[in-house]
Amino acid sequence: MKKLLILLTLKILSACQQSEQKRDGQAIYYQSCVSCHEQGHGGAPKRGDNEEWMRRLDKGKDVLLENLKKGYNTMPAKGACFSCSDQELALVLDYLLNNDASNH
Ligand code: HEC
Repeated sequence: MKKLLILLTLKILSACQQSEQKRDGQAIYYQSCVSCHEQGHGGAPKRGDNEEWMRRLDKGKDVLLENLKKGYNTMPAKGACFSCSDQELALVLDYLLNNDASNH
């Protein structure tokens, strides 16, 4: 019984550690950006629309990241991921830029 308790405690502890792990770009995308960028709502460039993303990338990745942080036209600041750090926003931007629709 004692052993079981210890095991359970360990399990709970490791679960906590997992939730503290950094989110990756894909996880953030599916949390915060998917509602607009998957179907292109309100003119949002769709995930996987490489042509559109390449066109936007012409401005420079720094500019894209800046616009993402501050908000851009109808896109809310940080793409509505208010808990995202700048580093996480850079990760999710990379995810969007390196993605095509067949890559989930
Ligand atoms: C409420 C809808 C919405 C959400 C949520 C949203 N976006 Fe957007 N996003 C847009 C729209 C609309 C545009 C296009 C704006 C325009 O070009 O007028 C856009 C444009 C962009 C651009 C291009 C900016 C530029 O300078 O051309 C990037 C990069 C981007 N979004 C990333 C993200 C990321 C990353 C997330 C999630 C963290 C996110 N967006 C969440 C609606 C959204």
